[in-house]
Amino acid sequence: MSRIEIASVSKTYDNGVAALKPITVDIAAGSFVVLLGPSGAGKSTLLRTLNGLETPSTGEVRIDGEVLGRANLRAMRARIGMVFQQFNLVGRLNVMTNVLCGRLGKRSGLGSLFFLMRRSDLERGHAVLARVGLTDKAWERADRLSGGQQQRVGIGRALAQEPAVLLADEPVSNLDPATSREIMDLISDICRRDGVTTIVSLHQVELARRYADRVIGLNDGNVVFDGPVGDLTEEVLRRIYGDGEDGGEYGGEYGAEYGGEDEGGHGGDVADA
Ligand SMILES: Nc1ncnc2c1ncn2[C@@H]1O[C@H](COP(=O)(O)OP(=O)(O)OP(=O)(O)O)[C@@H](O)[C@H]1O
Ligand SMILES: [Mg+2]
Repeated sequence: MSRIEIASVSKTYDNGVAALKPITVDIAAGSFVVLLGPSGAGKSTLLRTLNGLETPSTGEVRIDGEVLGRANLRAMRARIGMVFQQFNLVGRLNVMTNVLCGRLGKRSGLGSLFFLMRRSDLERGHAVLARVGLTDKAWERADRLSGGQQQRVGIGRALAQEPAVLLADEPVSNLDPATSREIMDLISDICRRDGVTTIVSLHQVELARRYADRVIGLNDGNVVFDGPVGDLTEEVLRRIYGDGEDGGEYGGEYGAEYGGEDEGGHGGDVADA
Protein backbone atom coordinates (compact mmCIF):
# COMPACT_ATOMS: atom_id res chain seq x y z
CA MET A 1 0.00 0.00 0.00
CA SER A 2 1.35 3.36 -0.95
CA ARG A 3 0.23 6.89 -0.44
CA ILE A 4 0.64 9.16 -3.47
CA GLU A 5 1.07 12.89 -3.08
CA ILE A 6 0.83 15.16 -6.09
CA ALA A 7 2.15 18.50 -4.88
CA SER A 8 1.65 21.54 -7.16
CA VAL A 9 2.47 19.43 -10.20
CA SER A 10 2.17 21.15 -13.56
CA LYS A 11 3.28 20.05 -17.00
CA THR A 12 3.93 22.28 -19.97
CA TYR A 13 5.20 20.42 -23.00
CA ASP A 14 8.04 21.72 -25.16
CA ASN A 15 5.51 22.91 -27.75
CA GLY A 16 4.01 25.24 -25.14
CA VAL A 17 0.87 23.19 -24.39
CA ALA A 18 0.01 23.53 -20.69
CA ALA A 19 -1.41 20.03 -20.21
CA LEU A 20 -1.54 20.26 -16.42
CA LYS A 21 -2.01 23.43 -14.39
CA PRO A 22 -0.60 23.15 -10.86
CA ILE A 23 -2.40 20.20 -9.31
CA THR A 24 -2.37 19.16 -5.66
CA VAL A 25 -3.93 15.83 -4.73
CA ASP A 26 -3.26 13.47 -1.86
CA ILE A 27 -4.27 9.86 -2.53
CA ALA A 28 -4.66 7.56 0.44
CA ALA A 29 -2.91 4.21 0.40
CA GLY A 30 -5.07 1.42 -0.99
CA SER A 31 -7.73 3.62 -2.56
CA PHE A 32 -9.33 3.27 -5.98
CA VAL A 33 -9.29 6.57 -7.84
CA VAL A 34 -10.86 7.18 -11.24
CA LEU A 35 -9.72 10.07 -13.43
CA LEU A 36 -12.46 11.51 -15.61
CA GLY A 37 -12.24 14.29 -18.16
CA PRO A 38 -12.81 15.08 -21.83
CA SER A 39 -10.20 14.34 -24.44
CA GLY A 40 -7.15 16.53 -23.92
CA ALA A 41 -7.95 17.22 -20.26
CA GLY A 42 -4.58 15.87 -19.13
CA LYS A 43 -5.45 12.39 -17.83
CA SER A 44 -2.65 10.58 -19.65
CA THR A 45 -0.19 13.34 -18.84
CA LEU A 46 -0.99 13.02 -15.14
CA LEU A 47 -0.64 9.22 -15.17
CA ARG A 48 2.65 9.42 -17.07
CA THR A 49 3.92 11.97 -14.57
CA LEU A 50 3.08 9.61 -11.71
CA ASN A 51 5.14 6.91 -13.38
CA GLY A 52 8.09 9.20 -14.08
CA LEU A 53 7.56 8.97 -17.84
CA GLU A 54 7.08 12.74 -17.84
CA THR A 55 8.97 15.14 -15.63
CA PRO A 56 6.76 17.75 -13.96
CA SER A 57 7.45 21.34 -15.02
CA THR A 58 6.78 22.42 -11.44
CA GLY A 59 6.04 20.61 -8.21
CA GLU A 60 6.76 17.05 -7.25
CA VAL A 61 5.26 13.59 -6.93
CA ARG A 62 5.86 11.73 -3.66
CA ILE A 63 5.21 8.06 -3.11
CA ASP A 64 5.21 7.12 0.56
CA GLY A 65 6.94 10.42 1.19
CA GLU A 66 9.75 9.80 -1.28
CA VAL A 67 10.09 12.33 -4.09
CA LEU A 68 10.04 10.77 -7.54
CA GLY A 69 13.19 11.94 -9.29
CA ARG A 70 15.99 11.04 -11.61
CA ALA A 71 18.06 9.29 -8.97
CA ASN A 72 15.41 6.87 -7.72
CA LEU A 73 13.37 6.57 -10.92
CA ARG A 74 14.27 2.96 -11.61
CA ALA A 75 13.59 1.78 -8.08
CA MET A 76 10.33 3.73 -7.86
CA ARG A 77 9.10 2.54 -11.24
CA ALA A 78 9.67 -1.05 -10.20
CA ARG A 79 6.90 -0.51 -7.64
CA ILE A 80 4.46 1.04 -10.12
CA GLY A 81 2.53 -1.23 -12.48
CA MET A 82 1.17 0.36 -15.64
CA VAL A 83 -1.70 -0.86 -17.83
CA PHE A 84 -2.41 0.65 -21.24
CA GLN A 85 -5.35 1.16 -23.58
CA GLN A 86 -3.47 -0.58 -26.42
CA PHE A 87 -2.20 -3.33 -24.08
CA ASN A 88 1.42 -2.74 -25.29
CA LEU A 89 2.31 -6.41 -25.50
CA VAL A 90 5.01 -7.94 -27.65
CA GLY A 91 2.67 -9.77 -30.01
CA ARG A 92 5.21 -12.28 -31.32
CA LEU A 93 6.16 -13.45 -27.84
CA ASN A 94 4.16 -15.86 -25.73
CA VAL A 95 1.98 -14.82 -22.84
CA MET A 96 4.39 -16.02 -20.13
CA THR A 97 7.30 -14.03 -21.59
CA ASN A 98 5.15 -10.92 -21.78
CA VAL A 99 4.16 -11.35 -18.14
CA LEU A 100 7.74 -11.94 -17.03
CA CYS A 101 8.75 -8.67 -18.72
CA GLY A 102 7.11 -7.14 -15.67
CA ARG A 103 9.94 -8.52 -13.58
CA LEU A 104 12.74 -6.98 -15.62
CA GLY A 105 12.72 -3.86 -13.47
CA LYS A 106 13.68 -5.99 -10.52
CA ARG A 107 17.16 -6.69 -11.80
CA SER A 108 19.78 -5.24 -14.08
CA GLY A 109 22.39 -6.17 -16.68
CA LEU A 110 23.22 -9.82 -17.16
CA GLY A 111 20.55 -10.96 -14.77
CA SER A 112 17.81 -9.65 -17.03
CA LEU A 113 19.20 -11.57 -20.03
CA PHE A 114 18.63 -14.79 -18.22
CA PHE A 115 15.47 -13.84 -16.42
CA LEU A 116 13.50 -16.64 -17.99
CA MET A 117 15.72 -19.23 -16.38
CA ARG A 118 14.95 -18.21 -12.87
CA ARG A 119 12.61 -20.65 -11.30
CA SER A 120 11.20 -18.16 -8.85
CA ASP A 121 10.15 -15.93 -11.74
CA LEU A 122 8.49 -18.78 -13.57
CA GLU A 123 6.57 -19.71 -10.45
CA ARG A 124 5.51 -16.13 -10.02
CA GLY A 125 4.48 -16.07 -13.69
CA HIS A 126 2.24 -19.09 -13.24
CA ALA A 127 0.68 -17.62 -10.12
CA VAL A 128 -0.02 -14.37 -11.95
CA LEU A 129 -1.56 -16.17 -14.93
CA ALA A 130 -3.85 -18.08 -12.59
CA ARG A 131 -4.88 -14.81 -10.99
CA VAL A 132 -5.79 -13.20 -14.31
CA GLY A 133 -7.49 -16.36 -15.57
CA LEU A 134 -5.04 -17.29 -18.33
CA THR A 135 -3.46 -20.48 -17.03
CA ASP A 136 -4.19 -22.32 -20.26
CA LYS A 137 -2.74 -19.54 -22.44
CA ALA A 138 0.78 -19.38 -20.98
CA TRP A 139 2.57 -20.55 -24.13
CA GLU A 140 0.22 -18.99 -26.68
CA ARG A 141 1.46 -16.08 -28.80
CA ALA A 142 0.12 -12.85 -27.30
CA ASP A 143 -1.27 -11.62 -30.62
CA ARG A 144 -3.47 -14.72 -30.95
CA LEU A 145 -5.51 -13.66 -27.92
CA SER A 146 -8.73 -11.65 -27.88
CA GLY A 147 -8.65 -8.04 -26.75
CA GLY A 148 -9.91 -8.87 -23.28
CA GLN A 149 -7.37 -11.66 -22.91
CA GLN A 150 -4.60 -9.35 -24.08
CA GLN A 151 -5.57 -6.84 -21.44
CA ARG A 152 -5.41 -9.64 -18.86
CA VAL A 153 -1.84 -10.23 -19.99
CA GLY A 154 -1.17 -6.52 -19.58
CA ILE A 155 -2.53 -6.66 -16.04
CA GLY A 156 -0.53 -9.84 -15.41
CA ARG A 157 2.64 -8.08 -16.50
CA ALA A 158 1.93 -5.30 -14.00
CA LEU A 159 1.16 -7.87 -11.27
CA ALA A 160 4.41 -9.69 -11.92
CA GLN A 161 6.13 -6.55 -10.65
CA GLU A 162 4.40 -7.02 -7.29
CA PRO A 163 3.44 -3.36 -7.48
CA ALA A 164 2.46 -1.06 -4.66
CA VAL A 165 0.74 1.24 -7.14
CA LEU A 166 -1.27 0.39 -10.26
CA LEU A 167 -1.86 3.01 -12.96
CA ALA A 168 -4.19 2.24 -15.85
CA ASP A 169 -4.75 4.63 -18.75
CA GLU A 170 -8.14 3.89 -20.33
CA PRO A 171 -7.69 0.14 -19.85
CA VAL A 172 -11.11 -0.72 -21.27
CA SER A 173 -11.53 1.77 -24.13
CA ASN A 174 -10.86 -0.92 -26.74
CA LEU A 175 -13.14 -3.52 -25.16
CA ASP A 176 -16.86 -4.27 -25.36
CA PRO A 177 -19.03 -3.48 -22.30
CA ALA A 178 -19.14 -7.01 -20.86
CA THR A 179 -15.38 -7.49 -21.22
CA SER A 180 -14.82 -4.02 -19.80
CA ARG A 181 -16.62 -5.01 -16.62
CA GLU A 182 -14.56 -8.20 -16.33
CA ILE A 183 -11.34 -6.21 -16.65
CA MET A 184 -12.55 -3.58 -14.18
CA ASP A 185 -13.56 -6.36 -11.75
CA LEU A 186 -10.03 -7.72 -11.99
CA ILE A 187 -8.39 -4.34 -11.42
CA SER A 188 -10.76 -3.64 -8.55
CA ASP A 189 -9.97 -7.02 -6.98
CA ILE A 190 -6.24 -6.24 -7.13
CA CYS A 191 -6.87 -2.95 -5.37
CA ARG A 192 -9.22 -4.34 -2.70
CA ARG A 193 -7.59 -7.67 -1.97
CA ASP A 194 -3.91 -6.78 -2.37
CA GLY A 195 -4.19 -3.20 -1.15
CA VAL A 196 -2.59 -1.81 -4.30
CA THR A 197 -3.28 1.92 -4.63
CA THR A 198 -4.98 2.22 -8.02
CA ILE A 199 -5.57 5.13 -10.39
CA VAL A 200 -7.54 4.47 -13.57
CA SER A 201 -8.51 6.94 -16.27
CA LEU A 202 -11.84 6.21 -17.91
CA HIS A 203 -14.18 7.65 -20.50
CA GLN A 204 -17.21 5.91 -19.00
CA VAL A 205 -18.94 7.67 -16.14
CA GLU A 206 -20.94 4.54 -15.33
CA LEU A 207 -17.80 2.53 -14.71
CA ALA A 208 -16.46 5.27 -12.47
CA ARG A 209 -19.70 5.11 -10.48
CA ARG A 210 -19.46 1.37 -10.15
CA TYR A 211 -15.82 1.01 -9.13
CA ALA A 212 -14.29 4.21 -7.76
CA ASP A 213 -13.88 5.28 -4.14
CA ARG A 214 -12.93 8.70 -5.31
CA VAL A 215 -13.22 10.56 -8.59
CA ILE A 216 -10.89 13.26 -9.82
CA GLY A 217 -12.36 15.30 -12.66
CA LEU A 218 -9.95 17.08 -14.98
CA ASN A 219 -10.78 19.76 -17.50
CA ASP A 220 -8.15 21.62 -19.47
CA GLY A 221 -5.42 20.64 -17.03
CA ASN A 222 -7.31 21.71 -13.92
CA VAL A 223 -8.86 19.58 -11.20
CA VAL A 224 -12.51 20.67 -11.42
CA PHE A 225 -13.85 17.96 -9.10
CA ASP A 226 -12.31 15.82 -6.41
CA GLY A 227 -14.55 13.84 -4.14
CA PRO A 228 -16.30 10.61 -3.30
CA VAL A 229 -18.07 8.87 -6.14
CA GLY A 230 -21.43 9.57 -4.47
CA ASP A 231 -20.96 13.28 -5.14
CA LEU A 232 -20.74 12.79 -8.88
CA THR A 233 -23.93 14.66 -9.77
CA GLU A 234 -25.11 15.88 -13.17
CA GLU A 235 -23.90 19.34 -12.24
CA VAL A 236 -20.44 17.96 -11.48
CA LEU A 237 -20.42 16.08 -14.78
CA ARG A 238 -21.20 19.32 -16.60
CA ARG A 239 -18.29 20.93 -14.77
CA ILE A 240 -16.00 18.12 -15.90
CA TYR A 241 -17.22 17.69 -19.47
CA GLY A 242 -18.62 21.14 -20.13
CA ASP A 243 -21.90 21.95 -21.86
CA GLY A 244 -20.49 21.64 -25.33
CA GLU A 245 -19.88 18.63 -27.48
CA ASP A 246 -18.16 16.57 -24.80
CA GLY A 247 -20.89 17.50 -22.34
CA GLY A 248 -23.41 15.80 -24.57
CA GLU A 249 -21.24 12.77 -24.89
CA TYR A 250 -21.04 11.78 -21.27
CA GLY A 251 -24.78 11.29 -21.14
CA GLY A 252 -24.88 9.60 -24.49
CA GLU A 253 -21.77 7.77 -25.49
CA TYR A 254 -20.13 7.74 -22.06
CA GLY A 255 -23.22 7.16 -20.00
CA ALA A 256 -25.60 5.07 -22.05
CA GLU A 257 -22.90 2.80 -23.36
CA TYR A 258 -23.29 0.60 -20.35
CA GLY A 259 -27.03 0.38 -20.54
CA GLY A 260 -27.06 -1.92 -23.52
CA GLU A 261 -25.04 -4.65 -25.09
CA ASP A 262 -25.10 -3.20 -28.59
CA GLU A 263 -21.60 -1.81 -28.44
CA GLY A 264 -20.07 -4.98 -29.82
CA GLY A 265 -17.52 -5.23 -32.53
CA HIS A 266 -14.52 -4.46 -30.34
CA GLY A 267 -14.29 -7.75 -28.52
CA GLY A 268 -12.22 -9.40 -31.18
CA ASP A 269 -9.79 -6.53 -31.52
CA VAL A 270 -6.21 -7.63 -31.50
CA ALA A 271 -3.43 -5.16 -30.88
CA ASP A 272 -0.72 -5.11 -33.49
CA ALA A 273 1.98 -4.63 -30.90
N1 LIG B 1 4.04 14.62 -25.87
C1 LIG B 1 3.26 15.69 -26.00
N2 LIG B 1 3.75 16.83 -26.53
C2 LIG B 1 2.99 17.91 -26.66
N3 LIG B 1 1.70 18.01 -26.25
C3 LIG B 1 1.16 16.92 -25.71
C4 LIG B 1 1.90 15.72 -25.55
N4 LIG B 1 1.08 14.78 -24.97
C5 LIG B 1 -0.09 15.40 -24.78
N5 LIG B 1 -0.06 16.68 -25.22
C6 LIG B 1 -1.14 17.67 -25.14
O1 LIG B 1 -1.45 17.83 -23.77
C7 LIG B 1 -2.86 17.95 -23.56
C8 LIG B 1 -3.32 16.84 -22.63
O2 LIG B 1 -3.15 15.59 -23.29
P1 LIG B 1 -3.45 14.21 -22.59
O3 LIG B 1 -3.02 13.16 -23.55
O4 LIG B 1 -2.85 14.18 -21.25
O5 LIG B 1 -5.04 14.24 -22.47
P2 LIG B 1 -6.07 13.09 -22.09
O6 LIG B 1 -6.95 13.61 -21.05
O7 LIG B 1 -5.33 11.83 -21.81
O8 LIG B 1 -6.90 12.92 -23.44
P3 LIG B 1 -7.57 11.61 -24.11
O9 LIG B 1 -8.85 11.37 -23.36
O10 LIG B 1 -7.82 12.00 -25.52
O11 LIG B 1 -6.60 10.47 -23.97
C9 LIG B 1 -3.48 17.88 -24.94
O12 LIG B 1 -3.67 19.21 -25.39
C10 LIG B 1 -2.42 17.20 -25.78
O13 LIG B 1 -2.49 17.61 -27.12
MG1 LIG C 1 -5.24 9.98 -22.67
